[in-house]
Amino acid sequence: MLNFDFYNPTRILFGQGRIADLDKVVPSAARVLILYGGGSVKSNGVLDEVRAALGVRDVQEFAGIEPNPSFETLMQAVELVRRDKCDFLLAVGGGSVIDGTKFVAAAVNFDGDPWAILEKRGSNITSALPFGSVLTLPATGSEMNSGGVVTRKSLQVKAPFMSRLVFPQFSILDPSKTFTLPVRQVGNGVVDAFVHVMEQYLTYPANAPVQDRFAEGILTTLIEEGPKALAAPHDYDVRANIMWCATLALNGLIGAGVPQDWATHMIGHELTALYGLDHAQTLAIVLPSMLRIRKESKRAKLLQYAARVWDLRDGDDDARIDAAIAKTQAFFEQMGVKTRLSGYSLGSEHIDTVLKQLESHRMVTLGERRDVTLEVSRQVLELSL
Ligand code: NZQ
Ligand code: ZN
Repeated sequence: MLNFDFYNPTRILFGQGRIADLDKVVPSAARVLILYGGGSVKSNGVLDEVRAALGVRDVQEFAGIEPNPSFETLMQAVELVRRDKCDFLLAVGGGSVIDGTKFVAAAVNFDGDPWAILEKRGSNITSALPFGSVLTLPATGSEMNSGGVVTRKSLQVKAPFMSRLVFPQFSILDPSKTFTLPVRQVGNGVVDAFVHVMEQYLTYPANAPVQDRFAEGILTTLIEEGPKALAAPHDYDVRANIMWCATLALNGLIGAGVPQDWATHMIGHELTALYGLDHAQTLAIVLPSMLRIRKESKRAKLLQYAARVWDLRDGDDDARIDAAIAKTQAFFEQMGVKTRLSGYSLGSEHIDTVLKQLESHRMVTLGERRDVTLEVSRQVLELSL
């Protein structure tokens, strides 16, 4: 029986030229801190456009938020905000910059050591500075959700947090700002969005046909449009469709009231924390094996997925499921994201280390039925060699 609380206060301003609308959505008296990453927004002109749109407002910058944003770097931004009494944050970049900005927003007035925010997964956040985002990389959905992931480098821990207080007030999505993405990030973005849908869809039937069909619509659109973004990188319509898919994949809509998995993500986070793989690379490695190992408990949804997403409607059930998983893996490869541990110079000697990390982070009963034990995670990783 469906039963859920759907809340999403983020305003989306979508389309070419929308950065100019910052003037309407950022309070005119705000003391703004712009946060960004390693410099792509400088070289492609996005930062200049943002500054021009903010006009005469009091604006400062914090640069250097790295992919998989680190607690260590973000705490420097927290100090800057406290010192200069900034009262509005603006993230300009991809998921790492937006996640990092969420953390800074929550940490600035946090009572005690802000690392506790990650230890308690965000449940202890009691206030956050208002913030918005200008998205330059469609992938994570962070632009319209209330989650973030922060890495503490010194501990090799990558931990998620969530709070209703860290939804962006607005996000500007201008697809033309994604033209400068390197091929690797285009592939990563499509794979990440695809796997977000799978984590919420490929579980067991829950009498939620509209969530299912939204999910299938996003998956088929990504399958159609993803390769076009590689072949024709300056096609605005292709970029626009991918961008909107990525946002809808993780803004709460398709996950409302349905069982959710997330085992692939949790194992993936350990691979990033230990070996520095890109987030989407870890997902491309783990998901196909995860589906193969858990074929029985996911059977009904795998058959639905095979039929509706890959149009595999005839023949033996097992053969259709196997073919659907093989097509999924081939799609990730087509997007340029390798799907085996060996593709990233990792081998069987690394598996124990990953399992130890999962154990120390209490990730020992994952998945929609909490039946992904360490033993299951081991089988998944062994199948991914
Ligand atoms: O740092 P700069 O110089 O800006 O370069 C970035 C970065 O190197 C570059 N880039 C971004 N936009 C660009 C561009 N280069 C050229 N042109 C542009 N328009 O892309 C690189 C990767 O950026 P990053 O923000 O790290 O990528 P992504 O958006 O994939 O974010 C990944 C992070 O999000 C977390 C991941 O764990 C990871 O830490 N996730 C957040 C989620 C959420 N908040 O809901 C859910 C996800 O499952 C995920 O875990
Ligand atoms: Zn993800």
